[in-house]
This record gives sequence, C-alpha cells and structure tokens, in this order.
Amino acid sequence: MLQHLSTVLWNKEAGPGCYRIGLSCPDHFGTAVPGQFIMLGLAGQLDPVLRRPFSIHNLIIRDGQTVGIELLYRVVGKTTAMLCRKKPSDRVDILGPLGRGFVLPSGLKKIYVAGGGVGAAPLVFLVSHLRRCQVDLSDCRVFLGGKSRGDLLCRDDFSALGVAVHITTDDGSAGDHCLVTHPLETAVERSCPDLLCACGPTAMLSCVAGIAEKHGVPCQVSIETMMACGMGACLGCAVQRRGQPQTYLHACMDGPVFSSQQLKW
Ligand SMILES: Cc1cc2nc3c(=O)[nH]c(=O)nc-3n(C[C@H](O)[C@H](O)[C@H](O)COP(=O)(O)OP(=O)(O)OC[C@H]3O[C@@H](n4cnc5c(N)ncnc54)[C@H](O)[C@@H]3O)c2cc1C
Ligand code: FES
Repeated sequence: MLQHLSTVLWNKEAGPGCYRIGLSCPDHFGTAVPGQFIMLGLAGQLDPVLRRPFSIHNLIIRDGQTVGIELLYRVVGKTTAMLCRKKPSDRVDILGPLGRGFVLPSGLKKIYVAGGGVGAAPLVFLVSHLRRCQVDLSDCRVFLGGKSRGDLLCRDDFSALGVAVHITTDDGSAGDHCLVTHPLETAVERSCPDLLCACGPTAMLSCVAGIAEKHGVPCQVSIETMMACGMGACLGCAVQRRGQPQTYLHACMDGPVFSSQQLKW
C-alpha cells in the first residue's frame, strides 16, 4: 500500500449525479481484489483535509498490465463535488489498495450479487474478476436496486459481462416495483447459490444477511462506514461484532467486506 499522485484519465457522467473516473495507478494495484478500496485526496487542496474512501470499481488493464483503476462515485459533498470537475491530466492523491475484499472460494459455481445504488461500484470489479478467472457465469445473477430509474447503475456493465440482471426500483420507474431483496429472496428460495455478495445501504445489507441466514447461504457484504484514515489509526470506523458485546471490528482493516455473520445487524 503506497501513496501515489495519480493522473486523471477520464471523468464521465454515469447517471444523474454519478461519475466514473479513470486514474493512473502504480503496478502494485495489479494485486487488488474486488471489495478493496482507496483513500482519495484532492492533491494540493487544503480543504477537505481528510482523504475519502472509494471502492475500486474496476482495474484498467492494457496488454496484461494494470495501468489504472476506475471509480464510480456519487456527488454528495465537498470532495465529490470537486472531484467531478477534474479533467484528464489533472492530479489526485490516492492511497491503496486498502482493506480486505471478497473471499472467493475455489470451485464457486453459483453466485448471487446484490447492489443498491452506488453499491454497484465494487460489484462490477467482482464479476469482472470472476470472468477473468474464467469462472462460468451462466448461473450468476445480479440484482440491482435503486430508489428510482436514475439510481440504477452499471446495468450495461453486468450485461456485457454476460450475467443475468434483475432490476428493481422503490418507485416502480424501472424494473420491478419493489425492494431489491424481494427478487433476491425469491431466487434463493428457488435455488440456493454457493455465495451471496452484496453492497449497498445498511438496511439492504441487513435484509440480505437475514435472507442468507434463513436459507443457510454463505454471505459477504461490503459495508460503508465513515472513515478518517483508512489504515487502522483513528479507530473511527468501528462496527460491532456479533455475539460479543463491547467488541468491535474496524471496517478499514478487518473489512470493508465481512462475512454477514461477523456483524451485529
Ligand atoms: C469502504 C468504502 C467504500 C466506498 N465506496 C464508494 C464508492 O465506490 N462510490 C461512492 O460514491 N461512495 C463510496 N463511499 C462513500 C464515500 O466515501 C463518501 O460518499 C465520500 O466520503 C463523500 O465525501 P464528500 O467529501 O464528497 O462528502 P462529505 O462532505 O464528507 O459528506 C457529505 C454527506 O455524505 C455523508 N457521508 C460521507 N461519507 C459517508 C460514508 N462513508 N457513508 C455514508 N455517508 C457518508 C456525510 O454524512 C454527509 O451527509 C465509500 C465509503 C466507504 C467507507
Ligand atoms: S478509518 Fe481510521 S481506523 Fe478505520
């Protein structure tokens, strides 16, 4: 894990208030696994002082070499508002890859992936990684949910990777008019996957964890907590460990991907 002054390769709108940014990165990012993240700072900028965490959305690979990373981000505050104005050849400061990503058992055949809103970001890397590892994705299913049509991200990326995508919106403006966990549970009831992976709002992850527990399916979730340092120094990203009162895990070092059974929901 090293700090790097990265060059912006592109920065394009990916939906209302959402962008994809391509960033140059050093060689060691070639070992990054899906679910890992970077801390990003606006080089030369004094405010905001702290870097912000972003999942690696995908690796940019040319001639077999990892030359960059892509992030998918929603504009919510100071850093992201400034980030969306960055142009190719501008610089940003990145630190990573950080944290623990998804642990993919060998022989994995059937995986269900559930994403809510910008939670789709690390899941594209996950499915791309499975494809690069030549995992047969014919039994892989992706469930994407959003409040409204504009919140649905990465549908085309998953389709291009050859996986079946199920869409839901809370307001019925696209796909099924329900929560994303609804078709997910129906699919699990019909045929249990080997692994469930999810990233999205905490309420959604809690529901996915409940479905996994009810049906006895292994489940890994990527959680979002506030992070000040991303490296285990500030202890600000503590989450409660299940079954052990007053015991905490730290999202930046022990996660952000956890087995759903590790966490108190
Ligand atoms: C491991 C990890 C991976 C992440 N990956 C992505 C990603 O791929 N794409 C993406 O768009 N965002 C991602 N996030 C969230 C992202 O870090 C925040 O959106 C970002 O820090 C906002 O920075 P800002 O300066 O623009 O907003 P701020 O001015 O810092 O905050 C604006 C608003 O967003 C809220 N907020 C800030 N950080 C978080 C957070 N971590 N969780 C929930 N609410 C928050 C604040 O409470 C405030 O209301 C990730 C967070 C974590 C912990
Ligand atoms: S963010 Fe500082 S310890 Fe996790």
